[in-house]
Amino acid sequence: MRLIQISDTHIVARPRLASGRLDTAAALENTVTRIEDLRAKVGPISALLVTGDITDDGDPASYARFREIVAPLDLPILAIPGNHDAREPMRAAFSDTGLMREAGPLNWVRDLPGLRVIGLDSLVEGQGGGALDVATLYFLADALETAPDCPILIALHHPPFACGIEFMDSIGLSDAAALAAILHRARLGNAAGDVRLVCGHIHQTQFVTVGGCPALSAPAVCSTFDIDFRADAPLGFLDSPGGFLLHDWATKFRTLAVPPTTGSGPYPFNPN
Ligand SMILES: [Fe+2]
Repeated sequence: MRLIQISDTHIVARPRLASGRLDTAAALENTVTRIEDLRAKVGPISALLVTGDITDDGDPASYARFREIVAPLDLPILAIPGNHDAREPMRAAFSDTGLMREAGPLNWVRDLPGLRVIGLDSLVEGQGGGALDVATLYFLADALETAPDCPILIALHHPPFACGIEFMDSIGLSDAAALAAILHRARLGNAAGDVRLVCGHIHQTQFVTVGGCPALSAPAVCSTFDIDFRADAPLGFLDSPGGFLLHDWATKFRTLAVPPTTGSGPYPFNPN
């Protein structure tokens, strides 16, 4: 009834730092600790959804390090690629999850209790922008059509919407209109009336509607992009981790943003 979504972990193999600066492994280790703490407070977690840029470089050793860091969670991993990933090393690294097809895009469906999760592969190797090929669009339409009477969560790396940050919108999703049309039909046809989309890529949380469906981008585990809509916004990242998302459909579907750190406390309320 609960799912953790982490995104954009950008793991690299020891002893490197991502972009020569970010200790992305430390950020993921901190996230694992936060998830363990959360699990003790909110109850069981069904799976760990990872919405791309799992590694910074697509290197098999980077995937191995990712698996090593999240292993203590002992959660099923639902992984889709981002533009920094590489399809074949990722297929091999997650071959034990039962989701990786032998060839082609890394699209999958996983039915959890009361929720269908659909993962889509928007990776176009060699470029930052994403695309959904015809096979992937058909895969999505079929997965929506055959869904049980429950909410549906669609996950892909590239947001099907402009985020306002020019250097990210220049590497956005090229097939957003086709995806929106499919979502529009799916929402009308879904018995539960609840089709949602989650993504990553833009290293910050934005909430919009696409095809009449809620669409939400997750923060990045490793870094943040400044909210700067100016045309001459500096290209680059902020070194502050962004946290992750908790999706909870025990009653009504709700999503909670979990910050990467907590303050001290809790302290008793003081009437004065
Ligand atoms: Fe990223």
